[in-house]
Amino acid sequence: MSEQATDNGQSADTNSIMSLIHEKIDELDSALPFDEFMELALYHPNYGYYTSARKRVGTDGDFITSVSVGQCFGKVLAYHFAPTIESMASNSDEVVIVELGAEEGDLAKDMMGALSELLSDSIFKRLRYIVVEPFTAKRAILHSKFISEGLDNFDVVSGFNELSVKKCILIANEVLDAIPVKRVRWNGNEWVEVCVSAVKDGEGKRLVVAEKNIESSALKNIVKDYPTTLSEGFTVEVNLRFNNFFKEIFAATEMLYGCLIDYGLKADEIFDPGRKNGTLRAYSKHGIIDDPLSSPGRIDLTAHVNFDHVSSVAKDCGFEVSSITDQYHFLVRSAEPWLLEIERAGNLDTETEKLLRQFKMLFHPSVMGQNFKVMEIKKGI
Ligand SMILES: C[S@@+](CC[C@H](N)C(=O)[O-])C[C@H]1O[C@@H](n2cnc3c(N)ncnc32)[C@H](O)[C@@H]1O
Repeated sequence: MSEQATDNGQSADTNSIMSLIHEKIDELDSALPFDEFMELALYHPNYGYYTSARKRVGTDGDFITSVSVGQCFGKVLAYHFAPTIESMASNSDEVVIVELGAEEGDLAKDMMGALSELLSDSIFKRLRYIVVEPFTAKRAILHSKFISEGLDNFDVVSGFNELSVKKCILIANEVLDAIPVKRVRWNGNEWVEVCVSAVKDGEGKRLVVAEKNIESSALKNIVKDYPTTLSEGFTVEVNLRFNNFFKEIFAATEMLYGCLIDYGLKADEIFDPGRKNGTLRAYSKHGIIDDPLSSPGRIDLTAHVNFDHVSSVAKDCGFEVSSITDQYHFLVRSAEPWLLEIERAGNLDTETEKLLRQFKMLFHPSVMGQNFKVMEIKKGI
Protein backbone atom coordinates (compact mmCIF):
# COMPACT_ATOMS: atom_id res chain seq x y z
CA MET A 1 0.00 0.00 0.00
CA SER A 2 1.00 3.62 -0.24
CA GLU A 3 1.23 4.24 3.48
CA GLN A 4 4.07 6.73 3.92
CA ALA A 5 3.23 8.60 7.10
CA THR A 6 6.08 10.55 8.65
CA ASP A 7 6.69 11.34 12.30
CA ASN A 8 5.23 14.83 12.10
CA GLY A 9 1.92 13.41 10.96
CA GLN A 10 2.25 14.65 7.37
CA SER A 11 2.38 12.08 4.62
CA ALA A 12 2.88 11.72 0.91
CA ASP A 13 -0.62 10.25 0.81
CA THR A 14 -2.21 13.35 2.34
CA ASN A 15 -0.52 15.53 -0.27
CA SER A 16 -1.58 13.20 -3.09
CA ILE A 17 -5.18 12.99 -1.99
CA MET A 18 -5.33 16.75 -1.37
CA SER A 19 -4.10 17.40 -4.92
CA LEU A 20 -6.64 14.93 -6.23
CA ILE A 21 -9.47 16.65 -4.35
CA HIS A 22 -8.31 20.08 -5.57
CA GLU A 23 -8.18 18.73 -9.15
CA LYS A 24 -11.76 17.44 -8.80
CA ILE A 25 -12.95 20.80 -7.47
CA ASP A 26 -11.17 22.60 -10.37
CA GLU A 27 -12.64 20.16 -12.90
CA LEU A 28 -16.13 20.86 -11.62
CA ASP A 29 -15.30 24.57 -11.61
CA SER A 30 -17.36 24.59 -8.46
CA ALA A 31 -17.68 22.58 -5.26
CA LEU A 32 -17.54 18.83 -4.65
CA PRO A 33 -20.67 17.26 -3.12
CA PHE A 34 -19.80 16.09 0.40
CA ASP A 35 -20.46 12.40 -0.33
CA GLU A 36 -17.95 12.51 -3.19
CA PHE A 37 -15.38 14.13 -0.90
CA MET A 38 -16.08 11.48 1.77
CA GLU A 39 -15.80 8.70 -0.81
CA LEU A 40 -12.33 9.91 -1.85
CA ALA A 41 -11.20 10.53 1.73
CA LEU A 42 -12.29 7.09 2.96
CA TYR A 43 -12.18 4.84 -0.08
CA HIS A 44 -9.76 6.14 -2.72
CA PRO A 45 -8.08 2.87 -3.78
CA ASN A 46 -4.56 4.18 -2.98
CA TYR A 47 -4.99 7.01 -0.51
CA GLY A 48 -8.29 6.38 1.25
CA TYR A 49 -8.48 6.06 5.03
CA TYR A 50 -10.12 2.62 4.82
CA THR A 51 -7.93 1.31 2.01
CA SER A 52 -4.56 2.09 3.58
CA ALA A 53 -2.60 -0.31 5.72
CA ARG A 54 -2.87 1.64 8.97
CA LYS A 55 -4.35 0.31 12.20
CA ARG A 56 -7.80 1.85 12.53
CA VAL A 57 -9.78 -0.12 15.07
CA GLY A 58 -8.76 -0.80 18.69
CA THR A 59 -6.95 0.97 21.52
CA ASP A 60 -3.83 1.34 19.33
CA GLY A 61 -5.91 2.68 16.42
CA ASP A 62 -8.27 5.64 15.96
CA PHE A 63 -11.49 4.32 17.50
CA ILE A 64 -12.85 1.29 19.30
CA THR A 65 -15.79 -0.83 18.20
CA SER A 66 -17.77 -3.54 19.96
CA VAL A 67 -15.64 -6.08 18.09
CA SER A 68 -12.40 -4.58 19.37
CA VAL A 69 -13.64 -4.68 22.98
CA GLY A 70 -12.90 -8.41 22.89
CA GLN A 71 -14.31 -11.83 22.05
CA CYS A 72 -17.53 -11.27 24.01
CA PHE A 73 -19.36 -9.47 21.20
CA GLY A 74 -18.85 -12.37 18.77
CA LYS A 75 -19.80 -14.86 21.47
CA VAL A 76 -23.09 -13.12 22.28
CA LEU A 77 -23.88 -12.74 18.57
CA ALA A 78 -23.24 -16.47 18.19
CA TYR A 79 -25.85 -17.14 20.89
CA HIS A 80 -28.19 -14.73 19.13
CA PHE A 81 -27.84 -16.30 15.67
CA ALA A 82 -27.57 -19.99 16.67
CA PRO A 83 -31.35 -20.73 16.81
CA THR A 84 -31.94 -19.07 13.40
CA ILE A 85 -29.00 -20.96 11.88
CA GLU A 86 -30.42 -24.23 13.29
CA SER A 87 -33.82 -23.61 11.74
CA MET A 88 -32.31 -22.46 8.42
CA ALA A 89 -30.09 -25.55 8.30
CA SER A 90 -33.04 -27.94 8.17
CA ASN A 91 -33.29 -30.03 4.96
CA SER A 92 -29.47 -30.32 4.97
CA ASP A 93 -29.15 -26.81 3.53
CA GLU A 94 -25.96 -24.79 3.75
CA VAL A 95 -26.19 -21.56 5.78
CA VAL A 96 -23.93 -18.65 4.96
CA ILE A 97 -23.01 -15.88 7.38
CA VAL A 98 -22.12 -12.79 5.40
CA GLU A 99 -20.23 -10.03 7.17
CA LEU A 100 -19.71 -6.55 5.74
CA GLY A 101 -16.82 -4.31 6.77
CA ALA A 102 -14.93 -7.01 8.67
CA GLU A 103 -11.70 -4.97 8.90
CA GLU A 104 -9.26 -7.40 10.59
CA GLY A 105 -11.63 -10.38 10.63
CA ASP A 106 -11.84 -10.68 14.42
CA LEU A 107 -15.63 -10.89 14.57
CA ALA A 108 -15.55 -13.75 12.06
CA LYS A 109 -13.16 -15.74 14.25
CA ASP A 110 -14.97 -14.91 17.50
CA MET A 111 -18.41 -15.80 16.16
CA MET A 112 -17.36 -18.98 14.38
CA GLY A 113 -15.34 -20.08 17.42
CA ALA A 114 -18.43 -19.76 19.62
CA LEU A 115 -20.76 -21.29 17.02
CA SER A 116 -18.52 -24.37 16.72
CA GLU A 117 -19.40 -25.06 20.35
CA LEU A 118 -23.07 -24.11 20.17
CA LEU A 119 -24.09 -25.94 17.00
CA SER A 120 -24.09 -29.66 16.31
CA ASP A 121 -21.18 -30.92 14.16
CA SER A 122 -23.49 -31.67 11.27
CA ILE A 123 -24.87 -28.10 11.21
CA PHE A 124 -21.49 -26.43 11.82
CA LYS A 125 -20.06 -28.35 8.84
CA ARG A 126 -22.75 -26.75 6.68
CA LEU A 127 -21.98 -23.24 7.90
CA ARG A 128 -19.84 -20.91 5.78
CA TYR A 129 -18.61 -17.43 6.63
CA ILE A 130 -18.15 -14.96 3.82
CA VAL A 131 -16.68 -11.51 4.28
CA VAL A 132 -17.62 -8.83 1.76
CA GLU A 133 -14.57 -6.59 1.35
CA PRO A 134 -14.56 -4.27 -1.68
CA PHE A 135 -10.80 -3.56 -1.61
CA THR A 136 -8.30 -5.94 -3.23
CA ALA A 137 -5.44 -5.44 -0.79
CA LYS A 138 -7.68 -5.85 2.28
CA ARG A 139 -9.29 -8.90 0.69
CA ALA A 140 -5.89 -10.51 0.19
CA ILE A 141 -4.88 -9.84 3.82
CA LEU A 142 -8.11 -11.33 5.18
CA HIS A 143 -7.82 -14.30 2.85
CA SER A 144 -4.30 -15.18 3.91
CA LYS A 145 -5.20 -14.58 7.57
CA PHE A 146 -8.07 -17.07 7.38
CA ILE A 147 -5.87 -19.59 5.53
CA SER A 148 -2.90 -19.22 7.90
CA GLU A 149 -5.22 -19.90 10.83
CA GLY A 150 -6.47 -23.06 9.15
CA LEU A 151 -10.02 -21.74 8.79
CA ASP A 152 -11.35 -23.54 5.74
CA ASN A 153 -15.03 -22.57 5.85
CA PHE A 154 -14.21 -18.88 5.36
CA ASP A 155 -14.18 -16.89 2.15
CA VAL A 156 -13.75 -13.27 1.09
CA VAL A 157 -15.53 -11.66 -1.88
CA SER A 158 -15.57 -8.14 -3.26
CA GLY A 159 -19.32 -7.51 -3.24
CA PHE A 160 -22.80 -8.93 -2.90
CA ASN A 161 -23.03 -8.98 -6.71
CA GLU A 162 -20.62 -11.95 -6.59
CA LEU A 163 -22.95 -13.89 -4.33
CA SER A 164 -26.08 -15.94 -4.66
CA VAL A 165 -27.03 -17.17 -1.21
CA LYS A 166 -30.03 -19.33 -0.44
CA LYS A 167 -29.92 -18.99 3.35
CA CYS A 168 -28.12 -15.97 4.69
CA ILE A 169 -27.30 -14.54 8.09
CA LEU A 170 -26.10 -10.95 7.62
CA ILE A 171 -23.99 -9.01 10.07
CA ALA A 172 -22.66 -5.47 9.67
CA ASN A 173 -21.19 -3.69 12.66
CA GLU A 174 -20.49 0.01 12.16
CA VAL A 175 -20.72 -0.15 8.38
CA LEU A 176 -23.77 2.04 7.69
CA ASP A 177 -22.10 5.01 9.40
CA ALA A 178 -19.11 4.67 7.07
CA ILE A 179 -21.16 4.95 3.87
CA PRO A 180 -20.62 8.43 2.36
CA VAL A 181 -23.31 10.99 3.19
CA LYS A 182 -24.58 14.17 1.64
CA ARG A 183 -25.00 17.19 3.90
CA VAL A 184 -27.79 19.75 3.76
CA ARG A 185 -28.18 23.04 5.60
CA TRP A 186 -31.15 25.28 6.45
CA ASN A 187 -30.01 28.79 5.37
CA GLY A 188 -32.95 30.49 7.02
CA ASN A 189 -34.88 30.46 3.79
CA GLU A 190 -34.40 27.07 2.14
CA TRP A 191 -32.44 23.82 2.39
CA VAL A 192 -29.13 23.95 0.47
CA GLU A 193 -26.45 21.31 -0.15
CA VAL A 194 -23.20 21.55 1.81
CA CYS A 195 -20.24 20.85 -0.47
CA VAL A 196 -16.47 21.10 -0.35
CA SER A 197 -14.62 23.90 -2.11
CA ALA A 198 -11.16 25.49 -1.91
CA VAL A 199 -9.79 28.94 -1.07
CA LYS A 200 -6.30 30.41 -1.36
CA ASP A 201 -4.32 30.09 1.84
CA GLY A 202 -0.90 31.77 1.64
CA GLU A 203 1.02 30.00 -1.11
CA GLY A 204 -1.37 27.07 -1.20
CA LYS A 205 -5.07 26.27 -0.95
CA ARG A 206 -7.33 25.11 1.84
CA LEU A 207 -10.54 23.09 1.72
CA VAL A 208 -13.63 24.91 2.94
CA VAL A 209 -17.35 24.29 3.14
CA ALA A 210 -19.49 25.77 0.35
CA GLU A 211 -23.26 25.89 -0.02
CA LYS A 212 -25.02 25.13 -3.32
CA ASN A 213 -28.58 24.83 -4.49
CA ILE A 214 -29.80 21.25 -4.24
CA GLU A 215 -29.82 19.64 -7.69
CA SER A 216 -30.39 15.96 -6.91
CA SER A 217 -34.09 15.12 -7.16
CA ALA A 218 -33.68 12.32 -4.58
CA LEU A 219 -32.23 14.82 -2.12
CA LYS A 220 -34.95 17.40 -2.91
CA ASN A 221 -37.52 14.72 -2.27
CA ILE A 222 -36.10 14.01 1.20
CA VAL A 223 -35.63 17.59 2.38
CA LYS A 224 -39.12 18.66 1.27
CA ASP A 225 -40.41 16.97 4.45
CA TYR A 226 -37.77 18.52 6.74
CA PRO A 227 -38.79 21.20 9.26
CA THR A 228 -38.37 24.82 8.20
CA THR A 229 -38.54 26.36 11.65
CA LEU A 230 -34.95 25.47 12.52
CA SER A 231 -32.26 28.00 13.34
CA GLU A 232 -30.20 29.28 10.43
CA GLY A 233 -27.24 27.01 9.69
CA PHE A 234 -28.89 23.83 11.00
CA THR A 235 -27.07 20.97 9.24
CA VAL A 236 -28.20 17.41 8.59
CA GLU A 237 -26.51 14.40 6.97
CA VAL A 238 -28.50 12.39 4.43
CA ASN A 239 -27.47 9.07 2.99
CA LEU A 240 -28.63 8.51 -0.58
CA ARG A 241 -26.49 5.36 -1.00
CA PHE A 242 -28.49 3.06 1.27
CA ASN A 243 -30.84 2.27 -1.59
CA ASN A 244 -28.18 0.55 -3.74
CA PHE A 245 -26.70 -1.06 -0.65
CA PHE A 246 -29.96 -2.84 0.31
CA LYS A 247 -30.99 -3.54 -3.29
CA GLU A 248 -27.76 -5.52 -3.88
CA ILE A 249 -28.22 -7.57 -0.71
CA PHE A 250 -31.87 -8.26 -1.54
CA ALA A 251 -31.01 -9.42 -5.07
CA ALA A 252 -28.28 -11.82 -3.88
CA THR A 253 -30.25 -13.67 -1.20
CA GLU A 254 -33.30 -15.91 -1.06
CA MET A 255 -33.83 -16.11 2.69
CA LEU A 256 -32.12 -13.67 5.04
CA TYR A 257 -31.98 -12.64 8.65
CA GLY A 258 -29.62 -9.78 9.39
CA CYS A 259 -28.47 -7.45 12.14
CA LEU A 260 -27.08 -4.05 11.21
CA ILE A 261 -25.51 -2.43 14.23
CA ASP A 262 -24.52 1.22 14.41
CA TYR A 263 -24.78 4.36 16.44
CA GLY A 264 -27.66 6.45 15.32
CA LEU A 265 -30.84 8.33 15.98
CA LYS A 266 -34.52 8.46 15.17
CA ALA A 267 -35.56 11.04 12.58
CA ASP A 268 -36.94 13.51 15.14
CA GLU A 269 -33.75 13.35 17.25
CA ILE A 270 -31.77 14.54 14.23
CA PHE A 271 -33.57 17.91 14.50
CA ASP A 272 -32.84 18.36 18.21
CA PRO A 273 -31.52 21.95 18.67
CA GLY A 274 -28.36 20.48 20.26
CA ARG A 275 -27.48 18.86 16.93
CA LYS A 276 -27.41 22.09 14.95
CA ASN A 277 -24.04 21.20 13.41
CA GLY A 278 -25.13 17.75 12.32
CA THR A 279 -23.60 14.41 13.31
CA LEU A 280 -20.60 14.26 10.99
CA ARG A 281 -17.49 13.50 13.04
CA ALA A 282 -13.81 13.08 12.21
CA TYR A 283 -11.69 10.85 14.44
CA SER A 284 -8.02 10.19 14.88
CA LYS A 285 -6.29 8.43 17.76
CA HIS A 286 -9.50 8.38 19.83
CA GLY A 287 -9.98 12.14 19.59
CA ILE A 288 -12.39 14.28 17.61
CA ILE A 289 -10.76 16.41 14.90
CA ASP A 290 -12.43 19.84 14.69
CA ASP A 291 -12.17 20.26 10.93
CA PRO A 292 -13.33 17.14 9.00
CA LEU A 293 -11.81 18.61 5.82
CA SER A 294 -8.32 18.99 7.30
CA SER A 295 -6.68 15.61 6.63
CA PRO A 296 -8.56 13.51 4.07
CA GLY A 297 -7.27 9.94 3.95
CA ARG A 298 -5.73 10.16 7.40
CA ILE A 299 -8.76 10.50 9.64
CA ASP A 300 -12.02 8.60 9.96
CA LEU A 301 -15.19 10.34 8.82
CA THR A 302 -18.50 9.09 10.07
CA ALA A 303 -22.10 10.24 10.53
CA HIS A 304 -24.87 8.96 12.82
CA VAL A 305 -27.33 6.70 11.07
CA ASN A 306 -30.88 8.01 10.76
CA PHE A 307 -32.58 4.72 11.65
CA ASP A 308 -36.05 5.84 10.53
CA HIS A 309 -34.60 6.64 7.12
CA VAL A 310 -32.50 3.48 6.77
CA SER A 311 -35.43 1.38 7.88
CA SER A 312 -37.76 2.89 5.28
CA VAL A 313 -35.12 2.37 2.56
CA ALA A 314 -34.66 -1.29 3.60
CA LYS A 315 -38.46 -1.77 3.48
CA ASP A 316 -38.69 -0.12 0.04
CA CYS A 317 -36.07 -2.60 -1.16
CA GLY A 318 -38.27 -5.49 0.00
CA PHE A 319 -36.96 -6.35 3.47
CA GLU A 320 -39.10 -6.70 6.55
CA VAL A 321 -37.62 -4.58 9.34
CA SER A 322 -38.51 -6.62 12.39
CA SER A 323 -37.08 -4.35 15.05
CA ILE A 324 -34.81 -1.47 15.91
CA THR A 325 -33.60 -1.71 19.46
CA ASP A 326 -30.66 -0.41 21.42
CA GLN A 327 -27.56 -2.53 21.94
CA TYR A 328 -28.32 -2.79 25.67
CA HIS A 329 -31.67 -4.56 25.17
CA PHE A 330 -30.39 -6.56 22.20
CA LEU A 331 -27.31 -7.93 23.97
CA VAL A 332 -28.99 -8.62 27.29
CA ARG A 333 -31.75 -10.58 25.50
CA SER A 334 -29.26 -12.44 23.26
CA ALA A 335 -26.87 -13.31 26.11
CA GLU A 336 -29.56 -14.84 28.33
CA PRO A 337 -28.68 -18.52 27.59
CA TRP A 338 -24.97 -17.79 28.10
CA LEU A 339 -25.60 -15.99 31.40
CA LEU A 340 -27.80 -18.87 32.60
CA GLU A 341 -25.00 -21.33 31.77
CA ILE A 342 -22.58 -19.22 33.83
CA GLU A 343 -25.05 -19.13 36.71
CA ARG A 344 -25.52 -22.89 36.55
CA ALA A 345 -21.75 -23.51 36.50
CA GLY A 346 -21.55 -21.69 39.86
CA ASN A 347 -17.93 -20.53 39.84
CA LEU A 348 -16.29 -18.03 37.51
CA ASP A 349 -12.99 -18.87 35.83
CA THR A 350 -10.64 -16.08 34.76
CA GLU A 351 -11.67 -16.29 31.10
CA THR A 352 -15.37 -15.94 31.96
CA GLU A 353 -14.62 -13.02 34.28
CA LYS A 354 -12.82 -11.32 31.40
CA LEU A 355 -15.73 -11.92 29.04
CA LEU A 356 -18.20 -10.58 31.60
CA ARG A 357 -16.15 -7.38 31.98
CA GLN A 358 -16.32 -6.95 28.21
CA PHE A 359 -20.05 -7.71 28.28
CA LYS A 360 -20.62 -4.92 30.80
CA MET A 361 -18.83 -2.43 28.56
CA LEU A 362 -20.85 -3.53 25.52
CA PHE A 363 -24.29 -3.40 27.12
CA HIS A 364 -23.90 -0.66 29.76
CA PRO A 365 -26.14 2.24 28.67
CA SER A 366 -23.54 4.84 29.59
CA VAL A 367 -20.76 3.09 27.63
CA MET A 368 -21.96 1.43 24.40
CA GLY A 369 -25.44 0.17 25.25
CA GLN A 370 -27.56 3.18 24.47
CA ASN A 371 -25.93 4.97 21.56
CA PHE A 372 -25.66 1.82 19.46
CA LYS A 373 -28.81 0.49 17.83
CA VAL A 374 -29.50 -2.84 16.18
CA MET A 375 -31.77 -3.02 13.15
CA GLU A 376 -33.00 -6.54 12.43
CA ILE A 377 -34.05 -7.24 8.86
CA LYS A 378 -35.65 -10.32 7.29
CA LYS A 379 -36.40 -11.71 3.88
CA GLY A 380 -38.40 -14.87 3.22
CA ILE A 381 -38.57 -15.94 6.88
C1 LIG B 1 -15.94 1.37 11.17
S1 LIG B 1 -15.36 0.16 10.09
C2 LIG B 1 -16.11 -1.32 10.71
C3 LIG B 1 -15.29 -2.04 11.67
C4 LIG B 1 -15.67 -3.45 12.06
N1 LIG B 1 -16.91 -3.94 11.52
C5 LIG B 1 -15.73 -3.52 13.55
O1 LIG B 1 -16.82 -3.63 14.10
O2 LIG B 1 -14.66 -3.46 14.16
C6 LIG B 1 -16.30 0.38 8.63
C7 LIG B 1 -16.01 -0.66 7.59
O3 LIG B 1 -17.07 -0.69 6.63
C8 LIG B 1 -16.51 -0.96 5.37
N2 LIG B 1 -17.50 -0.67 4.33
C9 LIG B 1 -18.06 0.51 3.98
N3 LIG B 1 -18.95 0.36 2.99
C10 LIG B 1 -18.98 -0.97 2.72
C11 LIG B 1 -19.72 -1.77 1.81
N4 LIG B 1 -20.61 -1.23 0.96
N5 LIG B 1 -19.51 -3.11 1.79
C12 LIG B 1 -18.62 -3.66 2.66
N6 LIG B 1 -17.90 -2.95 3.54
C13 LIG B 1 -18.08 -1.63 3.57
C14 LIG B 1 -15.25 -0.11 5.39
O4 LIG B 1 -14.32 -0.45 4.39
C15 LIG B 1 -14.74 -0.41 6.79
O5 LIG B 1 -13.97 -1.59 6.78
